Amino acid sequence: MHDQLASLYPRHLSTLRERADKALALGGFDHLAIAAGMPSLKFLDDQHYPFAVNPHFKHWLPLSHAPGSWLVHTPGAKPKLVFLQPRDYWHVVPDAPGGYWVDAFDIAIVRTPQEALAQLPRGRCAMIGEPHPAVAGIEINNPPAVLDCLHYHRSYKTPYELELMREASRIGTRAHRAAEKAFRAGESELGIHQAYLAAAGQIDAQLPYASIVALNEHGAVLHYTDFTSRPPQPARSLLIDAGASASGYASDITRTYAAADAGEFQALIDSVDAAQRGFVAKVRAGQSYPELHVHAHHVLAGVLREHGIVRMSAESAVASGVTAAFFPHGLGHPIGLQVHDVAGFQQSERGGTIARPDGHPYLRMTRTLEATMVVTIEPGLYFIDMLLQELREQPFATGIDWTKVNHFRQFGGIRIEDDVVCTTEAPENLTRDAFAAA
Ligand code: GLY
Ligand code: MN
Ligand code: MN
Repeated sequence: MHDQLASLYPRHLSTLRERADKALALGGFDHLAIAAGMPSLKFLDDQHYPFAVNPHFKHWLPLSHAPGSWLVHTPGAKPKLVFLQPRDYWHVVPDAPGGYWVDAFDIAIVRTPQEALAQLPRGRCAMIGEPHPAVAGIEINNPPAVLDCLHYHRSYKTPYELELMREASRIGTRAHRAAEKAFRAGESELGIHQAYLAAAGQIDAQLPYASIVALNEHGAVLHYTDFTSRPPQPARSLLIDAGASASGYASDITRTYAAADAGEFQALIDSVDAAQRGFVAKVRAGQSYPELHVHAHHVLAGVLREHGIVRMSAESAVASGVTAAFFPHGLGHPIGLQVHDVAGFQQSERGGTIARPDGHPYLRMTRTLEATMVVTIEPGLYFIDMLLQELREQPFATGIDWTKVNHFRQFGGIRIEDDVVCTTEAPENLTRDAFAAA
């Protein structure tokens, strides 16, 4: 893996340099300076929130923990890393830079965040970062024209990035296997979460997002993160949505499992799984993502019918909002340096927004798929009391088998989520490939 990254990195860096040149030209700047960022203090406290590096910084370097450092790009010049290595015996001091990427940079080591500022270029400089008291002396301008261009092109992953995303999927699927085992062994949500972390070898703060580990009815809470420490009796189902990080790149994986005696729910999982594979197969260059999302509503309406949950046609189930009550989120989103990656709605490198289709307020991706984009495909079916209550009050409520719905409430819901690379031919399913190899 290391040798492969070493051989892919130079091309990645030259791609980023070309993109940065273009972004600077569009914004009318001569230099780009990217702050890694600094940890933020909690209110009235001496404790910091977990540090989250500026995604623009980790795009250039496999460094997720370099608070106070900066990256500087000037067209035609070797990129520069201003690396903060403080004199500090309270915290871990980052090691001096090493690895396959260091020769590509001029590196200046500094001891304080203020010393770093003296290393930054003067003049027309696009400064990308978050304002922080430690950098109060300089103007962080985050120029929209520069950001728009950088964000738009970030959707196209380099071969180096795809390799890191494969690694994030390998770590995530290994941990998902351990989580399933813990569920089958009767562990609590907290116990399953701990089994996941141990197998991933990552602590919560290193994960790309807060894991969702939901037993039984908890699966109906889309972002369930209140883990109970006692297993329910019986544990009927597990919905686990958890990812992993590799050099700052994310995986985002969801699986739903049924207990051995929950045959009817298992059959519903199998149908969502088959539907999900069908959507993944459509991840191809030229496919409109919002059209795929609307297609998913029609296919899931068919699943609801097939299982006797609704009696109406797929068309009327979609048109009346019935599918939206069972599948109330988007089909997926771009993923990369951030789990919900940037530019899902962006029209071009100059900005602009592609609107969501009417009636689909939670979709996070409206672009047409192109080769090297990576998106998640995550259909679901849930039994959410609040939405079911609203549905009951509608005139078409008679087209729903409420006894069936009531039966399924005890399982919470189903989501199946893979990370998929769009190509001009068959898609690459990072998640299923990693599960198969695990
Ligand atoms: N885990 C967040 C998501 O699936 O989008
Ligand atoms: Mn997702
Ligand atoms: Mn997810």
